[in-house]
Amino acid sequence: MSSTSTFLHSCFLIFCLLSAPSCVSMFSGIETGDLEKRDDLFPQILRDEAVARLYELGKVSDASGYLERTFLSPASMRAINHIRKWMEDAGLRTWVDQMGNVHGRVDGVNANAGALLIGSHMDTVVDAGMFDGSLGIVSAISALKAMHVNGKLEKLKRPVEVIAFSDEEGVRFQTTFLGSGAIAGILPATTLEISDKRDVMIKDFLKENSVDITEESLLKLKYDPKSVWGYVEVHIEQGPVLEQVGFPLGVVKGIAGQTRLKVTVRGSQGHAGTVPMSMRQDPMAAAAEQIVVLENLCKHPEEYLSYDGHCSDSTVKSLSSSLVCTVGEISTWPSASNVIPGQVTYTVDIRAIDDLGREAVIYDLSKQIYQICDKRSVSCIIEHKHDAGAVICDSDLSSQLKSSAYSALKKMEGDIQDEVPTLMSGAGHDAMAISHLTKVGMLFVRCRGGISHSPQEHVLDNDVWAAGLATLSFLENLS
Ligand code: GLV
Ligand code: MN
Ligand code: MN
Repeated sequence: MSSTSTFLHSCFLIFCLLSAPSCVSMFSGIETGDLEKRDDLFPQILRDEAVARLYELGKVSDASGYLERTFLSPASMRAINHIRKWMEDAGLRTWVDQMGNVHGRVDGVNANAGALLIGSHMDTVVDAGMFDGSLGIVSAISALKAMHVNGKLEKLKRPVEVIAFSDEEGVRFQTTFLGSGAIAGILPATTLEISDKRDVMIKDFLKENSVDITEESLLKLKYDPKSVWGYVEVHIEQGPVLEQVGFPLGVVKGIAGQTRLKVTVRGSQGHAGTVPMSMRQDPMAAAAEQIVVLENLCKHPEEYLSYDGHCSDSTVKSLSSSLVCTVGEISTWPSASNVIPGQVTYTVDIRAIDDLGREAVIYDLSKQIYQICDKRSVSCIIEHKHDAGAVICDSDLSSQLKSSAYSALKKMEGDIQDEVPTLMSGAGHDAMAISHLTKVGMLFVRCRGGISHSPQEHVLDNDVWAAGLATLSFLENLS
């Protein structure tokens, strides 16, 4: 960008930050009448049908009254059937693998060339929004359907395979990427022995669903890196940046690394009315103190992080801008108002762009958790449930995605004055697991208020259209 356009761009950003609602409408007030007459924009497939499918999938839930669809749950099984049917309708050959991933593939003109994988996850968090994960699956299928009706599907230069991954959120087993991790071949052999809160192991749970999986068959799900060309994922941004800058689409530069811990604090269970305060070994009070320590550490790493002097200035600086830590789940035993708990268990989710910085935080936090436990005469166990390093997206794929987004928005808007924004992802994505197999690129789609992991999550119909159109443009230009 020239210095003038950089200046204008900055002014535009500041203007957007000050008056977000008017910026938001920049791409949302499309005069669709004329656009709908243009064959190359596929409004019925890329917008109307895609939006209808997102709403349909949004109703496929294990809970009544809110959306919850965890790894291979009954609702996930129903979701698999919907997705498979849509893939077949787009002209794709489909199958479901032993970890519950749904695949839809077209070979194009060269069945032996490395395949483009494109997808996202079909599982959800508890009380979820309906776009997280589903948008990437639906927009990929829609774009391929547009090619199918246009007679271009079989002319694709290389195989294209849509994959709806079975587990990215890790809600049930606290370990994420059970679906994409199997394809990437990064799941440890012990994965099948991981248990949920009720002590049901993954392998037994799969058996209950008539899937007899062994360590060997799990390993066989790994794709040969030579058979794959790259991976692309479309996903809602889950943050407010695109809305603030008034752009429906953005290209992802990289994804923050993440760690999930489970902390168990054991004390002395007792009567709430009779044990004097000075004689208690209360795991709840210990957990509360630890959670506040975590908050301070993550809010002000520059002040609180000691890491015995091993953290460089640049790491601390990077942490100050990207570190986020959350205790999202806590349970106590026996959980009654007149009982001092015997045990408290809570989860910790830590994310940062800088992997060394994240490790420093975990080291420091663990040290302080143990110190608090010693001081309060309770015992602590810290388990690492999940670790994923930060990922940098491939620069070629990113620039192809940028051009595709630009061309889609230009077709819809006529003229685009600013560059398609580039941003980092604080949220985890299947692309993190697949980066162990092949180069990855991601496209973000604006969502209302930046809200996600909430039923308030929303994407404008025209932004769903833009996402489908950008995917279509990417596929049409596949080399
Ligand atoms: C997935 O949405 C995650 O970032 O936890
Ligand atoms: Mn999510
Ligand atoms: Mn997601």
